[in-house]
Amino acid sequence: MSMRPAGTGPGRPKTTVLTLAEKHDRHEPITMLTAYDFPTARVADEAGLDAILVGDSLAMVVLGHPNTLAVTMDEMLHHARAVSRAAHGALLIGDMPFMSYQADTAEAVRNAGRFLQEAAMDAVKLEGGRRYAETARAIVGAGIPVHGHIGLTPQSVNALGGFRVQGRSAEAASELLDDALALEDAGCFALVLESVPDRLAAHITERLHIPTIGIGAGPGTSGQVLVSHDLLGLYDGRSPKFAKRYAELGDATRAAFQAFRADVEARAFPAREHSYAMPDAEWEAFLGRQRAPTGRPLRVVKKRS
Ligand code: KIV
Repeated sequence: MSMRPAGTGPGRPKTTVLTLAEKHDRHEPITMLTAYDFPTARVADEAGLDAILVGDSLAMVVLGHPNTLAVTMDEMLHHARAVSRAAHGALLIGDMPFMSYQADTAEAVRNAGRFLQEAAMDAVKLEGGRRYAETARAIVGAGIPVHGHIGLTPQSVNALGGFRVQGRSAEAASELLDDALALEDAGCFALVLESVPDRLAAHITERLHIPTIGIGAGPGTSGQVLVSHDLLGLYDGRSPKFAKRYAELGDATRAAFQAFRADVEARAFPAREHSYAMPDAEWEAFLGRQRAPTGRPLRVVKKRS
């Protein structure tokens, strides 16, 4: 009997932007996590997540940059391809990196298209509110589903003066609501709300018809997303307050690597069960072939055990 809940595991039906909208209409919470590689994407897909985001957080949690600005289109596509090879059920969203859509609309449409054409993503995500609504509209017009992202938009970390909560004043809250409405009007199928007060996130969610996916936005959004490295305890940098840890894989991995090193140094690994045997007769025949031109067997130097 399968240990997996219904609708999870290999071969589950493909999630599309329509199935996501239907789930939203039924008021069922939407689940999303980031993944950047084949094994993580496979596990996330088998766990039954609705969507997998190949986030530009890749820059920080995988590539070791201090923020998300340095990651390029080609790096994003490289990781997105690994994810789409593994995950066939979840909706796959490629995150448009810094400067792949900011400079001009035609370039934005072309780069969005690359995620679908070269990396088999189903949709793209971009950061920014009203200022990028027309860019989002143009990408949607090209037949590419767009996921918006407002609140703390890490690609604007320098303009925002750091990774800080957004929308805390009445004025900032009104601007965020206007951003959300503009993105919905532009045709976005969903919207990330990052690091905004919980009651503002709940209010924006009520005002929209499309689902909101919260990260540090409280329980009142239509769904939740986390950076998987935060959730798994794999990121050594400062984890945000909202990132609940479900595992300590960093500690577990370090312990496993130290145990391997200790075993090798103590000659405890590999043991017999990790080694391949050769039939005695074949071994003798092999040694027989190792005769020197004198006809005498070659001296086999025995290693210390
Ligand atoms: O890049 C990312 O991982 C994201 C999530 C935080 C939503 O944009």
